[in-house]
Amino acid sequence: MSIEPILATLFADTATLHESGVSVGGVDLRELATRYGTPLFVYDEETLRARCREAAGAFDDGVAFASKSFLCGAMARLAFEEGLCVDVATGGELDIVLRSGVPASRVIMHGNNKSREEIAHALAAGVHRLVVDNFDEIEQLRQMVNPEQPLNALVRVTPGVEAHTHEYVRTGQEDTKFGFSVSNGDARRAITELRAIPGLRLHGVHAHIGSQIFEVDGFRESMSVLAAFTRDDDFDELCIGGGLGVAYVAGESAPSINEWAESIRDAAREGGLRADLRILAEPGRAIVAQAGVTIYSVGVVKPVTQRIYMAVDGGMSDNPRPVLYGSGYEAFDVDLPLAPRPQVVRLVGKHCESGDVLIDEAYLPAQTKAGSLVATPVTGAYGYSMASNYNRVPRPAVVFVRDGQAHEVLRRETFDDLARLEV
Ligand code: LLP
Repeated sequence: MSIEPILATLFADTATLHESGVSVGGVDLRELATRYGTPLFVYDEETLRARCREAAGAFDDGVAFASKSFLCGAMARLAFEEGLCVDVATGGELDIVLRSGVPASRVIMHGNNKSREEIAHALAAGVHRLVVDNFDEIEQLRQMVNPEQPLNALVRVTPGVEAHTHEYVRTGQEDTKFGFSVSNGDARRAITELRAIPGLRLHGVHAHIGSQIFEVDGFRESMSVLAAFTRDDDFDELCIGGGLGVAYVAGESAPSINEWAESIRDAAREGGLRADLRILAEPGRAIVAQAGVTIYSVGVVKPVTQRIYMAVDGGMSDNPRPVLYGSGYEAFDVDLPLAPRPQVVRLVGKHCESGDVLIDEAYLPAQTKAGSLVATPVTGAYGYSMASNYNRVPRPAVVFVRDGQAHEVLRRETFDDLARLEV
């Protein structure tokens, strides 16, 4: 990060930065803040649709959007309209997706600890695929699946690949709570057991090595393990999971979805897989991250001996990623996006703990002060979806913008919403 103006490459596809403001989807960010209040999540619909189309074109039919990265009815419908399936990991995500009108036949159900109710819901709805994670789940499926209540399944395996990313979001290694180990024989035993369940059709294997991964090598390695492992099985699909990284700050760069898919397909070919095998994936972050920007109002600017604290009206409740993973972000002044940024501040939220930091060293124009609007780009993934009501702070509204129009897809929470669970 530097005092240079913020890079335009961190913005959504339709964003234009000019002397006195930023427009996304043909709508001015300041106008949105005035109309909907702050903090506010703004998503560029064009970018969301373009990334979904890229994923649908790069992989085979059955490629899914990982809804944990950002889910609401409008997002589930958008992914479905653009040709993707929707991946859910819990009964709650399944419920939202089915309520949105996406047919169950386009839903993929995950979960490392699916309850009996969640499995029953998935079976009754008739999901496209259920991804089986463990032997206790196989026992449940033995009791619940039958030719009258059939199931299309994949089996989740751990390929033993260490992805280069934060350990909290690394999942392909042997020591993990997810999936069946290939190397210790569990995955093979799971396949044998699943094939013996009448009414259950096992289509293939699934692996997910982690998230926010910039290098394609880990995915290639995972694909070659899957290829070697399944060469003699008569499967019709292999899913490589999600995990493609995105650039959050200047200096980072990530492969495109097309480049990612190409390297995975290459590895599948090199692994000697049949050409008609469906190669699938479930990107989340790569679809939604760059489409989103969060607008905050600055309330307080407090110089202390060591630095300047600049406090905004949100914080770790709408973006817990800096606290959880030490993730970096950049900031810009909504009214001065092209200005140099010589003012170095610690951008913090309004929560009652010192760890409530959005950006440890944020660069902002000298003019940015209490009352300014400050925004963080690339906040479309795992921000709203991991948002909390810590300190009883209501969750922000979410707005989609397109062709000069804004429409609210999730309204701002109110104190009444927060009180509705009291009995
Ligand atoms: N498929 C499976 C089975 C997953 O577990 C995940 C993410 C995805 C797909 C989508 O991964 P993506 O393409 O979004 O990397 N909260 C963390 C990320 C956790 C990811 C969990 N699983 C973060 O904010 O970085």
